[in-house]
Amino acid sequence: MNFSEIAKTELHLHLEGAAPPAFIRQLAGEKGVNMEGVFDADGAYVWTTFVEFLATYERACEVLKTPEDFGRLVSAVLAEQASHGVIYTEHFLAPDFCGGGDLVAWKEYLAAMTEAAEASPVEARFIPTCVRHMGPEQAKITARVSAETAGGLVTGFGMGGDESQFAAADFAYAFDMAREAGLGLTSHAGEVEGASSVRETLDALRPSRIGHGVRSIEDADLVARLVDEGVVLEICPGSNVALGVFPDLQSHSIAALREAGVAITVSTDDPPYFHTDMTSEYRNLSETLGWTQADFDAINQTAMQAAFCDEATRSRLLAKFNGA
Ligand code: ADE
Ligand code: ZN
Repeated sequence: MNFSEIAKTELHLHLEGAAPPAFIRQLAGEKGVNMEGVFDADGAYVWTTFVEFLATYERACEVLKTPEDFGRLVSAVLAEQASHGVIYTEHFLAPDFCGGGDLVAWKEYLAAMTEAAEASPVEARFIPTCVRHMGPEQAKITARVSAETAGGLVTGFGMGGDESQFAAADFAYAFDMAREAGLGLTSHAGEVEGASSVRETLDALRPSRIGHGVRSIEDADLVARLVDEGVVLEICPGSNVALGVFPDLQSHSIAALREAGVAITVSTDDPPYFHTDMTSEYRNLSETLGWTQADFDAINQTAMQAAFCDEATRSRLLAKFNGA
């Protein structure tokens, strides 16, 4: 199999976290922003724990200042994804870094990102995302600007950040606002925290998809609930191994969850931080778990069924993953 050429759907990718280190260094040079401590001697992002990863990520975001910077970033990230066979993707992006919740400013950032996405051969949608550790009040501001700009390429609303902070229920108001605006919903849970975090997220926020959710495997009742309710997991195996959620792919829960009937998809999360890309993910799944083209077609069909896109786009792209 030529893994880079397999057509792919990628639902779980953080735009800022996908920024190549060279891209961030270039902008830092142009703007005179001090990036000391962000890169190691080889030019890779520096972090060791989950909390340090989030801190380095936010430091790197300091160079992303203007709508033009974000437009350039969307172009660079989509070109990279296209080189790994991605034909449909959704980008998480944080309005907190795009005008801090000011609607007029956010619309300018969105216009630049939309123009860049529409010029790409990859079909893309945006999922504005609140950052959990910034708290529920900031999340409401994020949800409001997301709801105001629902439509066009903004088709979902999500939450990332430090899962150990606050309770899922604290974000119910923000998620309700996004739901009422017609946005698809997804939230990180069951990544660094256990099964109870997934259960609380499902109860309080009622998303159709969970970012990661891989620690659901710790609770058989929860696994049964995911199957019953058709909740789709956005699994990022390389990210989970890099962050130490599992020691390696062999012991990762992806195969057991799939075996149990949970709807699963595969993405990279923040590829340069975790030294991964979609080609490597597929190669590892093939070499370690024995996945074949039929398995890849199946997960991509699941992903397109769960995608936050219009029905015409869904059926057009589903046809590319029909196993033919
Ligand atoms: N933001 C970017 N990547 C993330 C991850 N893996 N978990 C939580 N928040 C994130
Ligand atoms: Zn993520």
